[in-house]
Amino acid sequence: MTIAITGATGQLGRLIVSQLRAVLPAEALVALVRTPAKAESLGIAAREADYTRPETLRRALAGVDTLLLISSSEIGQRATQHRNVIEAAKQAGVKRIVYTSLLRADTSPLSLAQEHRETEAMVKASGLQFTILRNGWYAENYTGAIPGALANGAFIGSAGEGRISAASRADYAAAAAAVLASPGHEGRTYELAGDEAWTLAGLAEEVSRQAGRAIPYRNLPEADYAAALSGLGLPDGLARGLASWDVEASRGALFDDGHELSRLIGRPTTPLAVSVARALG
Ligand SMILES: NC(=O)c1ccc[n+]([C@@H]2O[C@H](COP(=O)([O-])OP(=O)(O)OC[C@H]3O[C@@H](n4cnc5c(N)ncnc54)[C@H](OP(=O)(O)O)[C@@H]3O)[C@@H](O)[C@H]2O)c1
Repeated sequence: MTIAITGATGQLGRLIVSQLRAVLPAEALVALVRTPAKAESLGIAAREADYTRPETLRRALAGVDTLLLISSSEIGQRATQHRNVIEAAKQAGVKRIVYTSLLRADTSPLSLAQEHRETEAMVKASGLQFTILRNGWYAENYTGAIPGALANGAFIGSAGEGRISAASRADYAAAAAAVLASPGHEGRTYELAGDEAWTLAGLAEEVSRQAGRAIPYRNLPEADYAAALSGLGLPDGLARGLASWDVEASRGALFDDGHELSRLIGRPTTPLAVSVARALG
């Protein structure tokens, strides 16, 4: 049985490959990547597979039984890119697709959700066996901002009192590895999120506690937060997106208390205190 992983040179993909290698022989795994040279450290075979170049996808998927399609990072291009992958998988005789989607993609108000809804529909219409992993927010989306917050003396955001059920990338990677390496997930859609829900003020408190100095959270109007992110050098579209997703989070779009992630991985998800300690360490 051959399992192929797209996006294997990305942050989530690398973690998934390493978790799969702990339970499966390297020969059972193949990395599908844009740049094979970046895949050497993965320790498994790598094939060129660019979502925008269907001929690379057909070649790369030859002999693959199960495909993990990690959603592309090219927001706005993803429905087309994912369609290319799903079409190529059908042509290549892939039997099963596992797709990383977004928490409650069917009803989520996040602007990101539309491409995931379209992809889920394509996966289901493909006729292949499927499993959907609807991932909530990565804790790293926020802990990545800790160095900046320490430098500036405050966290900024627009998530207000919204509780965010984030989990670490490694937690979501463990879920993907579990679903890929074990039977019984056909036709399932998993809503995956952290066991612990926290606000950005709670994150700031935890950082303050561990850093030994007060780093408060300042909630900004959406336009001000987007402008601040643009000022830090983010592309305007991404800055506006991040600010709008924070506002949706303030209304509960990233809260979940179903605990499906910890059930799937057989352990609690990574606590906020641990994610903060890792970011500070
Ligand atoms: N739930 C969340 O909080 C959250 C946060 C951020 C992103 N995401 C989503 O989850 C995915 C995985 O997260 P991540 O942290 O691993 O993101 P990442 O590190 O940016 O990895 C994205 C991967 O997509 C690959 N990719 C992009 N365009 C491609 C193309 N045209 N053809 C083939 N591969 C392409 C990249 O290839 P290269 O290695 O060649 O660059 C990379 O391996 C992201 O792509 C995004 O859809 C979720």
